[in-house]
Amino acid sequence: MHRAKTGFLNKDRIRIHPAEDFAGMRAAGQLTAECLDMIAEFVKPGVAAEELDARIQAFIEDAGAESATIGYRGFQHASCISVNNVVCHGIPGAPIPKAGHETVSKDLEKRRTNDTLLDGDIVNIDVTCILDGWFGDSSRMYVAGTLGRRDARLIEVTHECLMLGIEAVKPGNTFGDIGAAIQRHAEGNRMSVVRDFCGHGLGQVFHAEPNVVHYGRAGSGAVLEEGMFFTIEPMINLGKPFTKVLADGWTAVTKDKKNTAQFEHSIGVTADGCEIFTLSPTGKFHPTWEA
Ligand code: MF3
Ligand code: CO
Ligand code: CO
Repeated sequence: MHRAKTGFLNKDRIRIHPAEDFAGMRAAGQLTAECLDMIAEFVKPGVAAEELDARIQAFIEDAGAESATIGYRGFQHASCISVNNVVCHGIPGAPIPKAGHETVSKDLEKRRTNDTLLDGDIVNIDVTCILDGWFGDSSRMYVAGTLGRRDARLIEVTHECLMLGIEAVKPGNTFGDIGAAIQRHAEGNRMSVVRDFCGHGLGQVFHAEPNVVHYGRAGSGAVLEEGMFFTIEPMINLGKPFTKVLADGWTAVTKDKKNTAQFEHSIGVTADGCEIFTLSPTGKFHPTWEA
């Protein structure tokens, strides 16, 4: 469906949306959140990532929505499923890369040949739904079976990084304020911020200006304005920040094979802060919601 884009581009070429556009983003974001809620109970040892992806695809289609990732630059799936040392863009069905040593299960030290989850895996699932032309993009962490202590801390800090970034969002602050808040918290906990991937503007498109980087200097970068829609999606590593993309052209892994985590929300800047479009309606965003 082709539609004229609403709003206008500001001097930094960032789209400023009118107030009425929030409703569409809210609906798309809530559907994405419901999808990520739905999948939670299926993430356990023995399940194949491809099965999780099939459930996600069916959920999106049953809701009368579309997956933004199927057919996106040749990607064929309704979700990215990124396990342990996979930073992002894990392909459901592809063999899970061998993990490093920051894991709880001895099984994880064996070479992996398929996409089946094992006890102790930490898993990011990233879903983007298109509902009535609006994009909702969100990801969160899940745990298959036993959560290791280092991984628990990684997930906790990564979630805090996202929320601290979001707290920095209000008109008059800058994108650098978001990145600085995230970087300070990650590095203050002796973790590192991935530089090679970033958040992005979205709305009636998947990826738009600006690049939302998760590090930087307070006060630098474009000024935030009411009506901007974008994602914040920090990837935080237990080890060094460096990544590489595997030969499949998608799977991004940490170079040092240590574990990594990510959380993503789609948000809209309001007069005095922001609205989080992809908040979980059941409060299941954080993986220890039942603890
Ligand atoms: N959802 C991802 C993001 O946060 C993009 C995934 S693109 C894909 O921007 F093709 F890998 F699915
Ligand atoms: Co995104
Ligand atoms: Co995403």
